[in-house]
Amino acid sequence: IRSSVVLHTHTYIWLRHPACKIEVPERLTVSHEALVQSGLADRCVSIPVREATDADILLVHSEEYLEAVKKTPYMTLEDLKEFTLQYGDVYFHPNIYHCAKLAAGAALQLVDSVMTGKVRNGMALVRPPGHHSMRSAASGFCVFNNVAIAARYAKQKYGVKRVLIVDWDIHHGQGVQYSFEDDPSVLYFSWHRYEHQKFWPQLRESDFDSVGKNKGVGFNINVPWNKVGMQNSDYLSIFCHLLLPVAYEFNPDLVLVCAGFDSAIGDPEGEMCATPDIFAHLTHLLMNLAGGKLCAVLEGGYNLTSLAQSVCQTVQTLLGDPAPPPANLDGPCKSALDSLHCVRSAHRQYWSCLKHAGEEGNSIEEKVWPEPPKRVTPTIRTAVVLPDGVTCPDGCKRFSSSEDLDPLIISKLK
Ligand SMILES: *[C@@H]1O[C@H](CO)[C@@H](O)[C@H](O)[C@H]1NC(C)=O
Ligand SMILES: [Zn+2]
Repeated sequence: IRSSVVLHTHTYIWLRHPACKIEVPERLTVSHEALVQSGLADRCVSIPVREATDADILLVHSEEYLEAVKKTPYMTLEDLKEFTLQYGDVYFHPNIYHCAKLAAGAALQLVDSVMTGKVRNGMALVRPPGHHSMRSAASGFCVFNNVAIAARYAKQKYGVKRVLIVDWDIHHGQGVQYSFEDDPSVLYFSWHRYEHQKFWPQLRESDFDSVGKNKGVGFNINVPWNKVGMQNSDYLSIFCHLLLPVAYEFNPDLVLVCAGFDSAIGDPEGEMCATPDIFAHLTHLLMNLAGGKLCAVLEGGYNLTSLAQSVCQTVQTLLGDPAPPPANLDGPCKSALDSLHCVRSAHRQYWSCLKHAGEEGNSIEEKVWPEPPKRVTPTIRTAVVLPDGVTCPDGCKRFSSSEDLDPLIISKLK
């Protein structure tokens, strides 16, 4: 059984807004070109895309929002601009509704192929991305939440009990968090550039202490990166000391990856330093879960060079090739370890693999020392020094300072 690549090649032009310069059609063409050049595309099964249906989209989004997006192909440019302005950092083009349906549909085709055993795993190369979009709002280049829809679809159509969503994009997929924060059947893990809430989308709820709500408490795991420049060791540490133990305990039936590569080196958004080969390892580590049923869906990734390399690393690993020896493992940095400890402590009450988290720091280290020696309480406790000529009070015994003390009396003083 081979891996699959769902390629959504439909290109379109965003409104000429400066922020649209990074989420460009070339992201897909260079990725595909790299897969062809490296011979990986030949080893994959290509799966045709379909449009997501209204029913698919309504698994996550509201009817009002879907109806509003449906009107965008018929809007004048002026109306489109106005429509766009009510959301954050998203740019509507007359063609985007069509493309967004294809992007979500591609993710669903991939889920179908994996769940029916046609392929073992796969990657959907799609635009627009999805993880920022919310029930009733577009956000951050995202129109429909491709991965959130895929999770609900897998549960509904295939009776999947537990879905793990791993979001290794450098942005917080707040749309995914909102969709599942009270749902214990979907474990959402996201690491993201945060910088103490200074980085987009600047949400308080992207921090480590948003652990899920109600029945879903413990099933939302946020790892904030409070510094840029994170490296391979930082990423691997989070996987090894947090995500994997929890994921094993969760025991998912399906793994979905919000596969954004703006977390790779050279990306103008992420400004991180992890190299493309790290995605071979991250992918490989996740392939042990859910019997290998893994669907990666492209999210961000704006450095065309590192994007294409990272896509190839991921797909080659999905195809079963061993990962290359990891490079530059110098150990995690202080800031990454701080984040790791915060997340582990925040989740210690929800996961037995973390139940002793927080006890490993120096300050709380368990020390052993001997019992202090037993202390004997003396039979006589108080001495009163009295001037000459004063009568000794009742209950006291008088010794003159000049007389030699009888050893017998001294022994009674002890
Ligand atoms: C991508 O990264 C390379 C290498 O660091 C750099 O030369 C190039 O300018 C980057 N491109 C973008 C769009 O950031
Ligand atoms: Zn991103």
